[in-house]
Amino acid sequence: MRLKNFYVKSAQRQVIIAGNWKMHKTSKQAVDLTEQIQSAIAGEKNLPEIVLIPPFTALSAVEKCLQKSQIKLGAQNMDWHNEGAFTGEISPLMLLDLNVQYVLIGHSERRQHFGETNTTTPLRIKAALAHGLKPILCVGELIDEREAGLTDAVVGRQVGAALGELNSDQFAQIAIAYEPVWAIGTGNHCAPAEANRVCAIIRKTVAALQARLEEKTESGQPFNANRLPVLYGGSVKASNIADYTKQEHIDGALVGGASLMSEEFVAIIKAAQERVKQTGKAAATR
Ligand code: PGA
Repeated sequence: MRLKNFYVKSAQRQVIIAGNWKMHKTSKQAVDLTEQIQSAIAGEKNLPEIVLIPPFTALSAVEKCLQKSQIKLGAQNMDWHNEGAFTGEISPLMLLDLNVQYVLIGHSERRQHFGETNTTTPLRIKAALAHGLKPILCVGELIDEREAGLTDAVVGRQVGAALGELNSDQFAQIAIAYEPVWAIGTGNHCAPAEANRVCAIIRKTVAALQARLEEKTESGQPFNANRLPVLYGGSVKASNIADYTKQEHIDGALVGGASLMSEEFVAIIKAAQERVKQTGKAAATR
């Protein structure tokens, strides 16, 4: 039966639920939210990989709460230089210093408001990987691009630009979030079947990139794109998450607004336990 087959294939992939808090929460509020999430999932089995992504100013406080937790810490952006005269920027070394493990790269709000482009995403991706940080590359089309039938081309270009130079070992460290820009913060989520279709294209694009660059790899083993976690993001909430995690190519979610409320976010995590149970790939302990 079809469902059975897809769980066999997706068994190779990590299920990830990441909460992007954007420009919300002071340190104190961030600690409160972290503690609420932690106590609500205490003792739970089959948890997905949970990543909390607070603003930079709350990373240190949240990190202290997470010291004995399996929840991972992420940052919302990162410059590619180690240090220098880059007022307002944060370097990979600064994130490592706070035990950050994941970093969002190329979020559409960075692209829209802060000049992030397909030229700078690969620099950030490579710098993150060089420092052992796991990048979550964000890609997605604008509404005008979707209406013009350009979704697949835009997303393919974003993936190709950011990841075109990676080798197999590096592919094994990344995740990609498909976030159609028109679905972010609007309540207008993408139909799950359509999100699945685009996530499948992302996986295919990575397979093609990997095949092209095979000769550059060091491990000798080509990376299998079936192992790549691909997440959906854009107005995910407790009431719709299961419709996404049931899809063959969607391995979890990048959650904005709904990650700011502990009950809602915990409900999303618990819904994702079903996919973990089926695929058997639980979160690694820290
Ligand atoms: P949203 O944001 O869940 O509020 O739509 C998602 C994101 O921007 O990562």
